[in-house]
Amino acid sequence: MKKHVLITGGAGFIGSHVVRLFVNKYPDYQIFNLDALTYAGNLRNLEDIEEAPNYHFIKADIRDAAAMLRVMEENAIDAVIHLAAESHVDRSISDPMAFVETNVIGTVNLLNAAKTYWRDAMEGKLFYHVSTDEVYGSLEDGSFFLETTPYDPQSPYSASKASSDHFVRAYRNTYHLPVVITNCSNNYGPNQFPEKLIPLMINNIIHKKPLPVYGKGENIRDWLYVVDHARAIDVVFHHGKEGETYNIGGFNEWKNIDIVNLICSILDKKLKRAEGESKLLITYVTDRAGHDHRYAIDAKKIMTELGWEPSLQFEEGIDKTIDWYLENEEWMLGVTSGEYQKYYSEHYK
Ligand code: NAD
Ligand code: TYD
Repeated sequence: MKKHVLITGGAGFIGSHVVRLFVNKYPDYQIFNLDALTYAGNLRNLEDIEEAPNYHFIKADIRDAAAMLRVMEENAIDAVIHLAAESHVDRSISDPMAFVETNVIGTVNLLNAAKTYWRDAMEGKLFYHVSTDEVYGSLEDGSFFLETTPYDPQSPYSASKASSDHFVRAYRNTYHLPVVITNCSNNYGPNQFPEKLIPLMINNIIHKKPLPVYGKGENIRDWLYVVDHARAIDVVFHHGKEGETYNIGGFNEWKNIDIVNLICSILDKKLKRAEGESKLLITYVTDRAGHDHRYAIDAKKIMTELGWEPSLQFEEGIDKTIDWYLENEEWMLGVTSGEYQKYYSEHYK
């Protein structure tokens, strides 16, 4: 089977791992990575595969409707895996409209392009929408997000992702567009932009900067290694049932403060610092507005129906992740200059 697959947001954190997996695993497919290269997009994430004959990069913005149709037509696209998005909750609190424009309007532009280009032959086509568990809202202790959990987004980011999920389902119902949606828990791993908790803490510990923990650090997230998310996307893309939703997660819940303490201990050892030295950097700061208490995915459906399961335990994944950041200081320096400094001083003032 030969396919022309358009992956949006492929220069970002998760997208780059998905692009790498597809380029290496499916030499018969042509992989088109469409990305606007915002602050979060970085072609260095894909240096190892950029010369592969089945890899193509297209710099384009999903907010540009005409460009989306042109890209589909010019490259005879059979399937879309849509990851391009504004992805950071804190940024969505200070600039919600950017999230409406990219996550809602950008997704509808892509849906329109697929609907128009595939109008005479929908069979065998697929619009795969990558979404988040945050659409389900905030959990109290004891229960889990199922695929049937009603949507209850609480931040501008999750509201924009929920809205995009609704549009994807509406296009299936109204125009018979073949779709599948996955909702994944928090990812961690190499290449994550240091505005997110884990790489931010690693970078600040290395440079002995304060470690800003929101509120009391008691909020809970469910963490999955990014390569395991990419593996799940591969499984759903090839074996998922059209029209279905699959939750992705590794049953791996952590309080923020416990993760920060763990990273401090690991880095004290790796950097040969005194045990407990990095924990002294922990600084409790004003809580995030509307901070969701807990996310926790019940991933039994993808595990039992499609046979996917995480390949790494968290202890191994976090160790590999920390090693990656220690070995790729130049990558971190490249993304933490200029705009990042401005964001950091404004957000953490
Ligand atoms: P990211 O911010 O690292 O990357 C987003 C990518 O999209 C960047 O390369 C950026 O340049 C590109 N992009 C942004 N706006 C664009 C536009 N208008 N046109 C074209 N490209 C644009 O994000 P991520 O963490 O890799 O997340 C990828 C997707 O997975 C998102 O849809 C996100 O909602 C979803 N998701 C993320 C997580 C997580 O923990 N990071 C968990 C579940 C789901
Ligand atoms: P984040 O990585 O931004 O992901 P999300 O908000 O999408 O879950 O944040 C993860 C958790 O860490 C969240 O509860 C907020 C918290 N957090 C901090 O305590 N300090 C920080 O500097 C950041 C960025 C996040």
